Amino acid sequence: MTSDLHARHQELSDLIQRHRREYYLDDAPTIPDADFDALMIQLRQMETDHPELITADSATQQVGPSPDTLFTPVTHPSQMLSLDDAFSLDQVRAWLSRVVSSVSEEALAADGYMCELKIDGLAMDLVYVDGVLVQAGTRGDGRVGEDVMANIATIAAIPSRLKGQAAGMVEVRGEVFMPLAGFAELNRRLIEQGKKPFANPRNAAAGSIRLKDPAVTASRPLTFLCHGIGLTDTVMDTLEQTYEQFAAWGLPVSDRRRVVHTMDEIVDYIDQLGQDRPHLSHEIDGAVIKVNSIRLQDQLGATVRVPRWAVAYKFPPVEVTTKLIDIQVAVGRTGRVTPYAVMTPVVVAGSTVEMATLHNAGEVRRKGVLIGDTVILRKAGDVIPEVLGPVVADRVGTERAFVMPTHCPECGAELAPEKIGDADLRCPNTASCPAQVRERLIHLASRQGLDIEGLGEKAVRAIVDGRLIGDEGDLFSLTAEALATQPLFRKAQKTGGPVLSKTGAKILEQIQAAKSRPFERFLVALSIRHVGRGVAPVIAAAYPTIEGLRAADPEQLAQVDGVGPVLAASIHEWFEVDWHRRIVDKWLAAGAMSPAEAGGDEPVDLPATLTGLTVVVTGSIPGFDRDQANQAVVSHGGRAAGSVSKKTSVVVAGDGAGSKLDKANTLGVPVIDASQFVALLAGGLAAVTPAE
Ligand code: IVH
Repeated sequence: MTSDLHARHQELSDLIQRHRREYYLDDAPTIPDADFDALMIQLRQMETDHPELITADSATQQVGPSPDTLFTPVTHPSQMLSLDDAFSLDQVRAWLSRVVSSVSEEALAADGYMCELKIDGLAMDLVYVDGVLVQAGTRGDGRVGEDVMANIATIAAIPSRLKGQAAGMVEVRGEVFMPLAGFAELNRRLIEQGKKPFANPRNAAAGSIRLKDPAVTASRPLTFLCHGIGLTDTVMDTLEQTYEQFAAWGLPVSDRRRVVHTMDEIVDYIDQLGQDRPHLSHEIDGAVIKVNSIRLQDQLGATVRVPRWAVAYKFPPVEVTTKLIDIQVAVGRTGRVTPYAVMTPVVVAGSTVEMATLHNAGEVRRKGVLIGDTVILRKAGDVIPEVLGPVVADRVGTERAFVMPTHCPECGAELAPEKIGDADLRCPNTASCPAQVRERLIHLASRQGLDIEGLGEKAVRAIVDGRLIGDEGDLFSLTAEALATQPLFRKAQKTGGPVLSKTGAKILEQIQAAKSRPFERFLVALSIRHVGRGVAPVIAAAYPTIEGLRAADPEQLAQVDGVGPVLAASIHEWFEVDWHRRIVDKWLAAGAMSPAEAGGDEPVDLPATLTGLTVVVTGSIPGFDRDQANQAVVSHGGRAAGSVSKKTSVVVAGDGAGSKLDKANTLGVPVIDASQFVALLAGGLAAVTPAE
């Protein structure tokens, strides 16, 4: 019996160690994090019931796998510990009562507890001597990690030299991670290059830190936040004081940290974080609660693996398993044919998911999923759900491989890549493939475009599939009679011909009203590649009529401030296509698309939403290059500055934002995400919400 127990214990411990290696060293976990946690709980329970099972090499006694040999080993000045997990508030309460019963309650009450984010990245140990970064190591087994100094030096958020007085040595601990926007962009790039995308931001960060070429690491959108201190010559009384000192040294600290004094406040913090989680710019997997007083931390001490003065509250899992019922393909606005997973609906991170894109046929192969598989599904906050891969062990033999169609499922045209070597297949029937027409109409009617209320997916489907119009060119000629042929727009009545319902009448009215939208909205509505809400006003300002724009040659177009050669070529090429010109002619004939301003020749003034504001744009902003972004600021009445100072009104931080973003954070200048840039242009500071 006992030998049986020993064998089970050994097996479980080995299994956990194997998963740890896959997670930490290979950056390729094969089970969801929650399943790993469950294995760990099982092992701990076993050891609680049978303490004789605990040996030095049990997985419960170790922090991580021994470091790989790829990088030079580096010994941390002091051991890096892990954190004990709490999977419920009760477990946090239990931790708190242990703390309260171990040290003086008055002393605890004085400095309280530090609540902070549990960032899902990888731990780093940075050693500064006399203010200079001299060593950077991954956690490894806690004592010895990998020397990743060359790669760390490429991360803008990590200063190579501390500001002010920093005599002696200080061991700074923190998390290297990849914000969600940067992660999405990186994966998009990798897929485009036919490379394997990362399963999640944590793996992307870990993979990027362990690259052999720092130049490649430099191109990865990594950043850093401090979460602790090891050996130091600077005496600190509390963790809060430590973070303040870090900030003064120019090290990045989270401003979502909060010092609290009661369990109720800890619960509030966790609740609030749970609510904010979907809106954070990076992934977190929980909250960390720490005793704030350093003296009490020392008194409480640590086990071989974790400190007694801290606990990690883990949010419920965001990785689940579900059944892959089918893989279908969708045809997008530009004809791109995308396979997507159809799954048994499952709740992940607070919402029900039943579909997830699989990007392209190559991706389906790479993920190794078969129709009928149990798959691991992951969703981080409000980001797009992603199928990670199959649970191979669950296969029963009836699973079958996905076959990418050779012809468009909507119009039957033969699919082909746009250029040789492209991973994506497209439907070449751009003019009349019903799927493409539908998608263009949905785009046209969206807020960015002509903002036609009621013309959503359902209505568009009825209009296109009912063949009420051939393409968007016919939109403004849509009649009541035609609409009333569709049940969706028809009033139920016993006698007489079909009569338009309220919904039908409303749509017709909205379509007519859209005719007089500003010209720039029509530019967006035309689905010209690269012409979005941001640049359309710039184009409309220079070319206030469609005739003028059509006649412009690419060289002239490229002269316009804010329009580069790529955009100019794209506009010019768009007008070269017959059916595109027919759309324009039909719209003009229907009385739509009037010039931007009466008179037509005068350039329009853009709304002066940024008057009196100094805006710094840093990192990459989708849809704008740096000149275009600055130009857009100026043309909305603002001042575009190149560096951040106390006078800066707002910093727009895109992917890869570095020292300017840090400076803004240090100076307390409001920072907005790239995705809010257009809103800023349209509505000024009142229209945006600065990041935490
Ligand atoms: S403190 C002595 N604070 O979580 C305590 N760790 O599960 C050691 N992590 O290895 C770490 N956010 O990589 C601490 N605010 C935070 C954290 C944090 C993320 C990571 C860190 C650690 C792991 C333990």
